Amino acid sequence: MCGIVGYIGNKRACSVLIEGLKRLEYRGYDSAGVCVFSGEALHIRKATGRVAEVEALACADRDIQAGTCGIAHTRWATHGEPNEVNAHPHCNHDNRIAVVHNGIIENYVTLKQFLASKGCVFRSQTDTEVLSHLISEFYEDGADSLEEAVQAALREVSGTYGIAVVCSDEPDKIVVARKGSPLIVGVGSDEYIVASDAAAIIEHTANVVYLNDNEMAVITRDGMRTMTVDNVPVTKEVQQIEWSLEQIAKGGYEHFMLKEIMEQPEAVRMSLGGRLDLREMRVKLGGLEKVSRDLVRARKVILTGCGTAWHAALVGEYLFEDLARIPTEVEYASEFRYRNPIVDDGSLVIALSQSGETADTLAALREAREKGALALGIVNAVGSTIARETDAGVYLHAGPEIGVASTKAFTCQLVVETLIALMLGRRRFMSQPTMDQYMQALTRIPEQIERVLEQSGLVRQIVAEHVDRDNWLFLGRGYNYPVALEGALKLKEISYIHAEGLPAAEMKHGPIALIHEGMPVVFIAPRCSTYEKILGNIEEVRARRGRIIAVATEGDTGIARYCDHVIYVPDCPVPLQPILTVVPLQLMAYHAAVARGCNVDKPRNLAKSVTVE
Ligand code: AGP
Ligand code: GLU
Repeated sequence: MCGIVGYIGNKRACSVLIEGLKRLEYRGYDSAGVCVFSGEALHIRKATGRVAEVEALACADRDIQAGTCGIAHTRWATHGEPNEVNAHPHCNHDNRIAVVHNGIIENYVTLKQFLASKGCVFRSQTDTEVLSHLISEFYEDGADSLEEAVQAALREVSGTYGIAVVCSDEPDKIVVARKGSPLIVGVGSDEYIVASDAAAIIEHTANVVYLNDNEMAVITRDGMRTMTVDNVPVTKEVQQIEWSLEQIAKGGYEHFMLKEIMEQPEAVRMSLGGRLDLREMRVKLGGLEKVSRDLVRARKVILTGCGTAWHAALVGEYLFEDLARIPTEVEYASEFRYRNPIVDDGSLVIALSQSGETADTLAALREAREKGALALGIVNAVGSTIARETDAGVYLHAGPEIGVASTKAFTCQLVVETLIALMLGRRRFMSQPTMDQYMQALTRIPEQIERVLEQSGLVRQIVAEHVDRDNWLFLGRGYNYPVALEGALKLKEISYIHAEGLPAAEMKHGPIALIHEGMPVVFIAPRCSTYEKILGNIEEVRARRGRIIAVATEGDTGIARYCDHVIYVPDCPVPLQPILTVVPLQLMAYHAAVARGCNVDKPRNLAKSVTVE
């Protein structure tokens, strides 16, 4: 999720490491740290906040300044508050092994219990720290080398990792490995620069080796050996970086927003990671364990948030009432905080927020807690204010979202709401066979999102035909009504085209007066119980010569005769449809904004996090 840099060569390692971390700052992070080998020992400096904080500490440390081999990290916390103790690198018991890690160790609780039973003392709350102790156990139990100990440790790990490991007993060696989190090795003249992102390498060399999943490299002053985590040698080709620094930061995409739209399959995989127990067919949400009994007793759920998070809350209302049969309300946080809401101790208030810093949402959360409600958070930014002020919560694990328009956070909010609704539903009325169906369907969602994303070119063509129109309508029913609202917001906020989202049935109660020849109307019309009703609404618009763009279920060829354009999404259970049907709308907004020459990542008048009223 965040940044790794490693260096071995003849330069002062600290300056290469710090400059490399600065090149990765665009990714968003909450803390940083460096580890340099010097004078027979590993020297470490860590700090919360900016890389500059670590730089100042390192500059004042003569040992760190002297070293020519080291590793460094910028952290986007997933497990454990952003603070100095939880910042990377993490060390073993005698500080002779240090690890930096990107990703999530899904079985860290089990590993931590095992290691603690062997006497390991943990300093941090992170999942990462289990790696340093596990590698140390194997290293001290007779592994012939650091790389052998790393291989043995990684065989016990489930989850995702990009790691760099150093050991003071084997100076001038960096062991790196990846599974699900990128790692690249820059091959310079008499030097190697390891990084999670080419942005930290490009100023030193354009010659790189890309590691694939389950591959690792052992880097020393004499050269680099590459092998699989199972110690099977692999030959890797040295390739050339052809991107500019700016292109690298955006993963080769033109904008962060497009990168984050395209990242959604991976983001959803991370959101689901470790939370679907397919052996026992149950949902596991560690962050809610301490309140699970209160959750089951909840008599009412109140979902609250702002903007896109409020739209996610609206989907949540359908999910909680449909899957868990719990009466559920949705409140704009900005309204909830001032209306003296009816909240009691049977109320479960859930605040949704990507940033975890939105002022209105934070105030609504505080109001709910003061009135005695159990307050949960569904938040992306670990350790954010909202996350810290809830009684418990579930993090999105969507990774940093840089574009002002929220995309992957929205789909991951829907995933987390679905997980919570399923967990509660199973504890209340849902049968195991029904649970099994939903859990299996969730595992297919990432690949189904990928299939929708393949239609980005089609969406761009469709948008090009209507991008000069200044008023659009988005219409949906049931679970897809909030998706209509979200589609309208996306279009408005980045292309400045006015758009309105509505329940499709509301057309007859006024808005149909808006329909005029050529007006784009987007219908979210997947197969569901009200599909025939939606077809009727489409006919109403067609009769008034509106231009109809439909999002429909793959295989539904019949709808095409009613529409000017159809974008198909894979079939899935209705409660999961919004995760798929929103993706074409995100792409629509993106392509419209690009076609209109708007600043996609930083739309006018908008901020990524509204921390003021
Ligand atoms: C989303 O595209 C908007 N930028 C905005 O509505 C956002 O969803 C809202 O400000 C809430 O932000 P939060 O999720 O960080 O609390
Ligand atoms: N899961 C690790 C932690 O929370 C690594 C997070 C990251 O990728 O930055 O410290």
